[in-house]
Amino acid sequence: MKRTNIAVFASGTGSNLQALIDAERREGLSGGIVGLVISDNPGAFALKRVENSGIPSFVLDKKTVSSVLEYDKIIVKKLKEFEIDLVVLAGFMKILSGYFIEEYRNRILNIHPSLLPSFKGAHGISDAFDAGVKVTGVTVHFVTEELDSGPIILQEQVIVKEKDDLDALEMRIHKTEHRLYPEAVRLFCKNKLKIEGNKVKIIGKK
Ligand code: GRF
Repeated sequence: MKRTNIAVFASGTGSNLQALIDAERREGLSGGIVGLVISDNPGAFALKRVENSGIPSFVLDKKTVSSVLEYDKIIVKKLKEFEIDLVVLAGFMKILSGYFIEEYRNRILNIHPSLLPSFKGAHGISDAFDAGVKVTGVTVHFVTEELDSGPIILQEQVIVKEKDDLDALEMRIHKTEHRLYPEAVRLFCKNKLKIEGNKVKIIGKK
């Protein structure tokens, strides 16, 4: 199996990072290896998760860098040093520059906690909840220059129940994320994703 070296980017809790690490250890990621964790937040719990795991991490606080481009140049250099094949954004709260996206074109994934194109932005779960939708969900997509708009790889619905409060809904969304993201990463690693315009064909899927 071909090895795919993955860098996971996380700014906060890192539960998706954990799900990817667990999936790699349990069922495998079809040759995918989490080889680096990147964060813009020195206080991110995601960093604690990998502290004693043997997975290297690199933190770059945006306050210490003069511009977005400068920031991304340092990160891209790091990714090249670690021979990263795939960038997986998992709650990374910083927008990537055009330069970064070009460097890793079609090799950057993101997970979003709604059924895109509905409820883009930083509050996908609560925006959907407040809008009173009966169905929301999770989307994994390729990253392009336009925020939360790249070609969609996988989506799964999550039903909003009558008795749900925001916490209950959030919990089910995260549970779905933790299953869906490893699945999408495996498809990428198996080379099963073919981008055609703004659509993704999953090779072999009926
Ligand atoms: C997830 O809900 C993800 O969809 C969004 O940010 C959140 C990150 O959570 N992009 P975690 O840090 O992986 O726990």
